[in-house]
Amino acid sequence: MGGKEEEYVKEAFDTNWIAPLGHNVNAFELEMSDYLNIKSATALSAGTAAIHLSLIINGVKAGDEVICQTFTFSGSANPIAYQQAKPIFVDSEKESWNIDPVLLEEAITDRKKKTGKYPSAVIAVHLYGQSAKIDEIVSICRKYKIPLIEDAAEALGASFKGKKLGTFGDIGILSFNGNKILTTSGGGMLVSDNTEFTKKAKYLATQARDDARHYEHSQIGYNYRMSNVLAGIGRGQLLVLENRVERKRQIFDKYFNAFGRVRGITFQPELKDSKGNRWLTTILLDPKESATDREKIRLELNKYNIESRPLWKPMHLQPVFKGCDNYVNKTSEKMFDQGLCLPSDTKMTDAQLDEIIEIIAGLLKI
Ligand SMILES: Cc1ncc(COP(=O)(O)O)c(C=O)c1O
Repeated sequence: MGGKEEEYVKEAFDTNWIAPLGHNVNAFELEMSDYLNIKSATALSAGTAAIHLSLIINGVKAGDEVICQTFTFSGSANPIAYQQAKPIFVDSEKESWNIDPVLLEEAITDRKKKTGKYPSAVIAVHLYGQSAKIDEIVSICRKYKIPLIEDAAEALGASFKGKKLGTFGDIGILSFNGNKILTTSGGGMLVSDNTEFTKKAKYLATQARDDARHYEHSQIGYNYRMSNVLAGIGRGQLLVLENRVERKRQIFDKYFNAFGRVRGITFQPELKDSKGNRWLTTILLDPKESATDREKIRLELNKYNIESRPLWKPMHLQPVFKGCDNYVNKTSEKMFDQGLCLPSDTKMTDAQLDEIIEIIAGLLKI
């Protein structure tokens, strides 16, 4: 926590707005819209809820196909199944580790050939806080008139050509899960320059209550709004977001200075003209080139009670999505085999970081 969160939470208690609406919710939406320089935002209970509502708002229904980056967390893809739509998974390129625009266009045109219809939406992700090739992805989606849902769950505070990630798609989504750069313990947001979308999201997230004196419903709704107490935490967190991005980038620089030139190690790259938030510092270890491998490092750190984790297992390899069509090129499979998320918490001291670096350097024999 940054310090101010409790004041906003206290305000919710003092005014007795312990509810999924209130001043903090409205203010958090406005402050986030200002920060992102986008017209509107709807605060929700989770990033997953934001993706689910984005699909509904874009008319995705049972049997439709939705393209999703395969190299991601399951929260990106599960909402496709909530709609009984079919996920089509597309692999990543090596320059940002995010969805490959060439493969994306290939997938779109191939689906049209195979089904007679274009996919109903595309979900692109800025994984680990690093920008995807978003200009190209936007142009492809416009060319085929397919709505783009930009999953910026891990990328709050990052930008491409000076424009904040999450503001490129028809709808952007954010996550404030406990592990994210800004947290409300759990929470999310749907953001858009189209105010009809955020209005519709608010309506659907409050059980789709129609405008009437009594409780009238003409559509199925959801209980997806953010609590006024948690929005208070979010407001306080927003005040320290820029500091957190800078600290995350310092942590990356420290690892990169130590291992950036070591044979067999590749760091997640940063696209030209982009500034990632380096939510997690992630590396690949080529066991043929290196004195060690991913698992050896992970297990050695574990001995010191230091947690590191493999990269996301691609969705097309997940048992739950077995049989879904995919357009893959082995990039995400290699990343899953060789990739490691290094400890990246902004609370770590430089001394703790040095300790981690020393342990890894020992295995690398440098
Ligand atoms: C890439 C990605 N998409 C979606 C989500 C879902 O967000 P939430 O956990 O807030 O539902 C997460 C994180 O949890 C994520 O990392």
